Amino acid sequence: MSMIADVPVKDLVKTYGTPLVVYDAGALRSRLKEFTENFQSDRFETGILYASKAFSCKAVLKLANEYGLYVDAVSCGEIHTALAAGYDPAKIVFHGNNKTADDLQYALTKGIGTIVVDNLMEAQLLDQMIRGTDHTIHTLVRVNPGISAHTHHYIVTGHVDSKFGISLLNESELVDTIRILKDNPNISFDGFHSHIGSQIFEKQAFVEEIRKLFETAADFREKYGISCNTMDFGGGFAAVYTEEDHPIPIKEVCDTILSTCTEEEDRLHTGIQKVLIEPGRSIVAEAGYNLYTVGFLKKTPNRSYVFVDGGMSDNIRPALYQAKYDAYIDGKETEPVKETMTVAGKCCESGDILIEAIDLPEVKSGDILVMKTCGAYGYAMASHYNKLPLPAVVFAEDGNHRTVIRRETFEHMIALEED
Ligand code: LLP
Repeated sequence: MSMIADVPVKDLVKTYGTPLVVYDAGALRSRLKEFTENFQSDRFETGILYASKAFSCKAVLKLANEYGLYVDAVSCGEIHTALAAGYDPAKIVFHGNNKTADDLQYALTKGIGTIVVDNLMEAQLLDQMIRGTDHTIHTLVRVNPGISAHTHHYIVTGHVDSKFGISLLNESELVDTIRILKDNPNISFDGFHSHIGSQIFEKQAFVEEIRKLFETAADFREKYGISCNTMDFGGGFAAVYTEEDHPIPIKEVCDTILSTCTEEEDRLHTGIQKVLIEPGRSIVAEAGYNLYTVGFLKKTPNRSYVFVDGGMSDNIRPALYQAKYDAYIDGKETEPVKETMTVAGKCCESGDILIEAIDLPEVKSGDILVMKTCGAYGYAMASHYNKLPLPAVVFAEDGNHRTVIRRETFEHMIALEED
């Protein structure tokens, strides 16, 4: 019998049904604690933003708030959720490459603390909208340092054409953007932001990113008299999905970032006082489990399928990114492997495969399949494909459990429809 946070999986299934998303809330707490304890410096003020796109709901945001994190919100929906969770709007940082005038107005009206300006047109729009009003706002400008870091590799020259931020190669556009912000008395230009990718395993990628941003700050001060006090290095810290994954431990990530900042500040004297990071996945991924009931089993000439009662509608990552996951059958963890199987969902699509190949013991209809590391970008990217209702989300902790998002019903799914 397997347990999540001292709750038998069987009890969770009996209480809530499947498919079900379960978070070990104690594991969430320890991640939040690990980040807050380790991202501390004598030299700089530090701040951690929870990248709520990884999993945004009131319960998780309340936890992040409890541990003193800021929130990275990328839409008004995410802002709304953070506010509903009790967040101080000053602790919300608004991201996005295409914020509309309505989005910006919403952020200003709600008193959001910081906007990360993505491009020149956004600076122009914000300038127009805020001038002469009572609103004030902090800003960071998102730059693209030309470092693209993706699973296992970092390529220093990569991705200058990303849709996010202003490329450091477009220096004049960057200067124009910053000048617009600096010339507006309602806007404070605080510094630079960048985010170089997600599920990054290479420490060196972050080191390169930090050096590049400090060099830019030094350069801009010297050439244009533009000074800044804050740097935000984004998120991207990896999680363990399968035994092949060996992420940099959180403490090491924090130490590396802070020591690189210290070295760079000693070298370049940019005047940076505050450094920020924006972890999403590394906080919530490993704390989350997806529970499915096994339905039919099918053998084809080359495969043995296990069908489960969810699929790409609650976890699109395998279909979208060929993401790999590990799983086990509840109560059979120590049974010998019987065969290599393919775990497929119930959606009407051949690509609806959750795990291409996994060694499993003898599986029977009615067994519970527990998929690990489902806490990031799972529920957050879920859809109503095939009109499947979104699963319930539960927090389990110290033997207790509670619903944090109720299971959708068919009625929820047609509630906005007109005849
Ligand atoms: N900050 C910014 C500006 C970001 O764009 C992101 C993620 C983060 C922070 C958080 O990154 P994390 O620490 O979670 O890696 N749907 C994809 C991941 C997309 C990440 C987008 N940006 C996936 O499921 O792998």
